[in-house]
Amino acid sequence: MLGKFIVFEGIDGAGKTTQLDLLGRELENRGYPVVYTREPGGTRVGELIREILLNPLYGELAPRAEAFLYAAARAQLVAQVIIPALEAGKIVLCDRFVDSSLAYQGFGRGMDILMLEQINRPAIAGLVPDLVLLLDFCCDDAIDRLSRSGRGADRIEQEQQEFYRRVRLGYLSLAGREPGRYNIIDANRPVDLVLCDILKAVGEVLNEVTERNNRA
Ligand code: TMP
Repeated sequence: MLGKFIVFEGIDGAGKTTQLDLLGRELENRGYPVVYTREPGGTRVGELIREILLNPLYGELAPRAEAFLYAAARAQLVAQVIIPALEAGKIVLCDRFVDSSLAYQGFGRGMDILMLEQINRPAIAGLVPDLVLLLDFCCDDAIDRLSRSGRGADRIEQEQQEFYRRVRLGYLSLAGREPGRYNIIDANRPVDLVLCDILKAVGEVLNEVTERNNRA
């Protein structure tokens, strides 16, 4: 693929969305074509699925049905947005990807990781992020931040603190499996320091794009 696929991961409240927007603006200022997207969602169909997944009204959602819905939204996003953007040479910044399912449904809910990987295989169609930025954030601070945000908790955020601890450790264990592709960023710091580390991590990936463009 011509473009680059950069994914932000981390527990709710870690600051992914803020950092994704800041990184995107910085890249645009440097002249890179950027596509911003998110999971679940990012497409018309995906946003409808997001509503089912996050609305506390649907508390009866069974864990396996939840896992399939995340995978379905992902399949739509990959086909409709991510692959076409990468083929057009764009930099895709995605707020969450398949690791969210492994961390939340797998480590958080205790579903079998291999089964989740199987469910997701057709959804991601072989697509692997060039870089995963894991914003590692202390669970207690995350819960504080969510309660201070003033909006009501969504269905997933209503989970217990212990759930978020498992998710966080799950992420760290996933990152440990493939240290080359993950960059763990300490997100318990001011926004500008976190961004600085993100820019460093993204630098290598971007150098490849610049060199390729210079050769073209
Ligand atoms: P967010 O867009 O605000 O991060 O919310 C998405 C929520 O959905 C968040 O609590 C994490 C959760 N989630 C999963 O449990 N599994 C997944 O595969 C994805 C993409 C998100």
